[in-house]
Amino acid sequence: MRNIQDCFCKMTYWLLIIFTSLLGTDGWSDNRQRKFKDDFLFGAATSAYQVEGAWNIDGKSESIWDRYFHEHPEVVVDGRNGDVGSDSYHQYKRDVELLRELGVDFYRFSMSWNRILPTGFPNKINEKGIQYYDNLINELLKYNIEPVVTLFHFDLPQTLQDLGGWANPLCIEWFEEYARVVFDKYADKVKYWITVNQPNDICIESYESDRWPPAAESKGIGPYLCIKNVMLAHANVYRLYVNEYKNKYKGSVGISLAVNWLEPLNNKTENVEAVELYREFTLGLFINPIWSKEGDFPQVVKDIVAKRSKEQGFTKSRLPILSKQEIKLLKGSSDFLGINHYTTSLVSPSSDEFPSPSIADDVRVQLSKRSEWKIAKSPWLASAPYGIYKACIHINLKYDYPPVFITEHGWSTDVGLQDEDRAYNLREYMKAILLAIEDGTNLKGYTAWSLIDNVEWSAGTSERFGLYEVDFDSDDKTRTPRLSAHVYKRLIKTRVVEENWKPKSMKMKISDRKFKEPEPKAEL
Ligand code: NOJ
Repeated sequence: MRNIQDCFCKMTYWLLIIFTSLLGTDGWSDNRQRKFKDDFLFGAATSAYQVEGAWNIDGKSESIWDRYFHEHPEVVVDGRNGDVGSDSYHQYKRDVELLRELGVDFYRFSMSWNRILPTGFPNKINEKGIQYYDNLINELLKYNIEPVVTLFHFDLPQTLQDLGGWANPLCIEWFEEYARVVFDKYADKVKYWITVNQPNDICIESYESDRWPPAAESKGIGPYLCIKNVMLAHANVYRLYVNEYKNKYKGSVGISLAVNWLEPLNNKTENVEAVELYREFTLGLFINPIWSKEGDFPQVVKDIVAKRSKEQGFTKSRLPILSKQEIKLLKGSSDFLGINHYTTSLVSPSSDEFPSPSIADDVRVQLSKRSEWKIAKSPWLASAPYGIYKACIHINLKYDYPPVFITEHGWSTDVGLQDEDRAYNLREYMKAILLAIEDGTNLKGYTAWSLIDNVEWSAGTSERFGLYEVDFDSDDKTRTPRLSAHVYKRLIKTRVVEENWKPKSMKMKISDRKFKEPEPKAEL
């Protein structure tokens, strides 16, 4: 029986691979005009470290990014770190005004753990920090803009990093304690929660490389410890909400994963296999425990890491196991899947020598881009709109049509208000999203990254992601709408993608979408 089941699973798996590979890059679209339904939600996003500034003001303590950039100013490309950022701590009312100009349904922002709990623990609650988020939320609600709150967007309190951060299983408890404080304060006003933003980047960038704090470089070991802990921390907080808050407040809790599309360099079997393997390491480790039928980490990842660990002389696999109880905790622990999608990469096997142990050595692939893809200011960001369509269809088929929210998508440019490239990228991806919906994706909403220019981590402000430009040299960090802000506003209003529409003037007014009556909310 088991063999028949295995055989059936393998067949479905290969049919899925063949199907998504057959969705070529040509002829994937047509010219019919499609429309976003009235209950489809549009929003814009930022994160605390990237926009708030006020890094040590009103009781906020040091996060790992504060420490890292203060100790290594040389890593920030243009020297502008998040000490002041876009100064949203002081300019939040203007930010809400921008959202009203765009006419969005919601604003996705993150809370700074440090601003709320300066020690990292709930022994000291920073009332000024609590007040700041309360003010922001009230300002949003006043104009009927739904707050979508991310609990953790990369900025761990340094105090907790000093105790091992996400590599320490106690972080699961610490995160729950923090979440409880936040839910107690805001669950009556906030209905959409995202536990963790891009755990796949947190664990790999922070522990496999020295590109992100703590720059600990524990290749092939640290990332796997982090993955287990951060995923359990997410699941625990999901259960906390369900058990203690959901009945009363009726909110939804999800997680945002980086879901860029990956495809084989060409249709050679070795490339198709390399893609599937790489996808399991970069996405499967995070999505499988929550959305696959069997739960747990992907079998192929467990097998490879166990094999390599043994060859390397470890007494057990470097990938920690999930116990039966942990698998149960994780399975189904999300009301929706948040997709952060930016780009597509080509994958092929690599015969390079990689450091051993390392994830790179476990997976042994190389990435590239098609030469015809337009590249943004960020060198990793290539425009390939069909990628978002394929990513959605892949998730539908493999994980049985989960409710999905695009929690981030965007484009980076230089300074300048005439951002035709961003406007073009937005339109093309919107068309692909409409197709993905038409083909069955249970997609509830779209979030533009970002509302305003901000600190793009180590790139500082050299890569601009904002619909609104920020003048970082001005006292009030003046925000000015770019062309793309007008295009997005128009799209939200008309709910169709208009190829050649241009604003008559670059002046922005508050959108005439009504904000008196509550907008229809997506059922998640
Ligand atoms: C995803 C991250 O969540 C966000 O912080 C970052 O700015 C964007 N990608 C662009 O790189």
